[in-house]
Amino acid sequence: MDKLFLIGFMGSGKSTVGKKLSLILNTSYIDTDSLIEETYQKKIPAIFKEEGENAFRKYETDILHTVTAEIVSTGGGIVEKDENVKWMQKNGVIIYLQSNFDEITTRLEKDSFRPLWDKSLADRRKLYIKRVIMYEQYADLVIDTTQKDIEAIAHEIIHEYTYNYKPNREKYRKEILKG
Ligand code: S3P
Repeated sequence: MDKLFLIGFMGSGKSTVGKKLSLILNTSYIDTDSLIEETYQKKIPAIFKEEGENAFRKYETDILHTVTAEIVSTGGGIVEKDENVKWMQKNGVIIYLQSNFDEITTRLEKDSFRPLWDKSLADRRKLYIKRVIMYEQYADLVIDTTQKDIEAIAHEIIHEYTYNYKPNREKYRKEILKG
């Protein structure tokens, strides 16, 4: 099986869905944010505060390159770097968990603190729109999570991957030609 990379905005359920998928498929799971915190022994908000976003992005890329798990949930900003996207495309299937802005807002109200969500409503919206364009552009599969529970989302991913995922022929052709 390909590695499955879950991408999507903060609060779109990547970690909970990733864990559920790994249980159903009986395979390994990792969350890049947790791996960053473990490796650098620092919470993400502290990394942002003390070292800045660029340092965090560097850790994120370094960590992504070390993952061996089959199911990988990523931080919402993983798509900010082309090299991350290329790496995920080369090493697996990119699955975008789509949620609308209102649902994200409700979920994040109850959730833990995220440095990049700590802004005005207009700036949150701006970030959301910018990111959604990227997620859609890079995803191999898009799963709408609106009003669905975790179990249903996980089963939909398995179904879509099994029956509707067509590997990007161009990508594989290039790899084959490269030898
Ligand atoms: C970020 C999302 C967060 C975390 C960091 C930056 C982003 O992960 O990686 O705070 O740039 O969108 P989640 O998407 O798991 O909240």
